[in-house]
Amino acid sequence: MAKVTFVQPDGSQRTCVNFEGMTLMQLAVGNLVDGIDALCGGMMQCATCHCWIDPEWIGRTGMAGPDERAMLEAIEGVEIRPESRLSCQVQLGEELDGLVVRIPPEQPGV
Ligand code: FES
Repeated sequence: MAKVTFVQPDGSQRTCVNFEGMTLMQLAVGNLVDGIDALCGGMMQCATCHCWIDPEWIGRTGMAGPDERAMLEAIEGVEIRPESRLSCQVQLGEELDGLVVRIPPEQPGV
């Protein structure tokens, strides 16, 4: 079990508790976190689960791999940062207890 804090563009924060085997996207959707729509259900086809991992945590979550990066770079009108990830591709575990994730103000398809 680990806690993840989602930070909205207006600075409001919400901390959610994950259970073993969840992805970051599943945690966000299960807790109705605004800005994570996950329209494709985690198939890496929509990018509506885009988020920015807090830079202090990117070493632990890892950066986007080549396929994920290509999907992110195909998004228009959204700020893609080095710490951008598709939340459906981030597997949560004990090592990510305390993770902080930022929701971008503009999301694809939202
Ligand atoms: S849920 Fe569609 S790409 Fe992550």
